[in-house]
Amino acid sequence: MKLAVIGTGYVGLVSGVCFSELGNEVICVDNAASKIELLNNGEVPIHEPGLKELIASNTAAGRLSFTTDLAAAVSSSEIIIIAVGTPSLPDGKANLAYIEQAAEEIGRAIDDYKVVVVKSTVPVGTNEKVADIIRNHSVASFDFASVPEFLREGTAVRDTLNPDRIIIGTASDRAAELLTELHRPLTDQITITDVRSSEMIKYASNAFLATKISFINEIANICEKVGADVEEVAKGMGMDRRIGSSFLKAGIGYGGSCFPKDTQALIQIAGQMDYDFKLLKSVVEVNRDQRFNVIRKLDDLLGDVAGRTIGIWGLAFKPETDDVRDAPAFEIIEALLERGAQIKAYDPIASNNFEKIFKRSEVQYCESAQEAAQDADALCILTEWKEFIDIPLTDIQKWLKTPNLIDGRNIYKEEDLEATPFAYYSIGRPK
Ligand code: UGA
Repeated sequence: MKLAVIGTGYVGLVSGVCFSELGNEVICVDNAASKIELLNNGEVPIHEPGLKELIASNTAAGRLSFTTDLAAAVSSSEIIIIAVGTPSLPDGKANLAYIEQAAEEIGRAIDDYKVVVVKSTVPVGTNEKVADIIRNHSVASFDFASVPEFLREGTAVRDTLNPDRIIIGTASDRAAELLTELHRPLTDQITITDVRSSEMIKYASNAFLATKISFINEIANICEKVGADVEEVAKGMGMDRRIGSSFLKAGIGYGGSCFPKDTQALIQIAGQMDYDFKLLKSVVEVNRDQRFNVIRKLDDLLGDVAGRTIGIWGLAFKPETDDVRDAPAFEIIEALLERGAQIKAYDPIASNNFEKIFKRSEVQYCESAQEAAQDADALCILTEWKEFIDIPLTDIQKWLKTPNLIDGRNIYKEEDLEATPFAYYSIGRPK
C-alpha cells in the first residue's frame, strides 16, 4: 500500500518506518526542512533502539522516503496518516493547531479517494473536526478513521511491530477494510469501533496506566510506614490476572511526553462537560509529590543538604531514551539547588537535552557515572539505566565520600545492600 505519514516525531517516524518494514511504500512528511534533511542523510533526530537500522534498510530498498512536500505525498498515497504533535496548552488542554494545519493542507492536496487517519492523541470529537476541515478545502471523496498509537519510547520499534491490539475507529466499511489489511501483518487483535470511542480509548488507556503507577506509589509510601516491601506487594498483586503485573513498579513517579500531557487533557475534556474527574486529579497530584521523596530521604540522611555534593544518576524520564520531557529530575535538582546543594549529574545520553531546557546553570554535567559519584556526600538514582545497574556496589562505595545511596527506582534488591556500609534508601521498603 502507499502511505503518507504527516509528522516525523516519535509516533509518525516510528510508525512510518515500521509500515515500510512491512513492505508498504511510505513517504514521511514534515515541515521542518532541517529534520527532513537529517533523515535523508541517514541520521535520526531521536534516540530509539533499532530505528536507525530500519531507516537505512528501508530507504535503501526504495520503500521509505522523507520530504517537506505534503501535497505531493498526499497525492501519491491511498492512506494519509496524521501524526503531528498535540502538546499541552497552559491550561492543560491539547493544542490542536498542528492537527488543524495538517488537515487544511491535506484538504487542499486531496485529488482522489483517500483514507485519512488520525494517529495523534486528540480529544474526543477531533477526528470529526479534521474531516470538516478537509471537506471545506476539497471536493474529492475521502473517509476518516482514528487509529491511536500505543508505543512506548525506548521500545517504540518493538511495540509497533508487536502491538497488543490495533484500534480502528471509523464509520466507513471501506476505510475499516483497508486499515485492517494494513495492520493485519502486525496482529490478529484488531478492533473496529466508532470514532469517538477510539479517541477515548487512547486517553483512558494512558490515564489508567498513570493511575496504576500513582496507586503503587501510594502503596509504597504506606509500605514504608508499616514495614512492608512494595516489591513483594506488587509481585503478589500482579499474580492476579485481573490486576496484572505491569506498571506496578514503584519509584519517583511518571514523566515523559504522554502521561503528564494526556492526564491533564482528559481532566480538561471531562471538565468541559462539567464532569469533575476527581480520581485522575489525585493521580496527577500523587505523581507530582512522589518525586520529592528523594528530597525527604536526603534530608533524613544528611540533615541538611546545604553545601553538600549530591551525585545524580539519570536525567531522562525513563531508560533507553534521551527524552527529558517532564522528567522528575527537573524538580528534584531544582529543589536541591534551592536548598544550597551542589549537583553533579550524569545521564548516558540525555544530559544535552536536559541542559538545554533546565533554567539553572549551577549543575555540573559529568562525562561518566563515576565522575558524578566521585567524592559526593550522597548518590541519587533517578533513572534505571542498565549502565547503572551493571556498576558493582563496591565501585560506588569507593567513589562516594560517604556511602549514602538513594535509589529512586529500586534498582537494587534489599539483600544486595545487607553486608555493605551503605545507608540505603529506596522507595516503599521497610527502613
Ligand atoms: C506511554 C504509554 O505506555 C504508551 O502506551 C503510549 O503510547 C505512550 O505513553 C503515548 O501516549 O505516546 P511512554 O511515555 O513512552 O509510553 O513510556 P512508559 O514506559 O509508559 O513510561 C512512562 C513513565 O512511567 C516513565 O517515567 C516510567 O518511569 C514510569 N513508570 C512506568 C513507572 O514509574 N512505573 C511503572 O511501573 C511503569
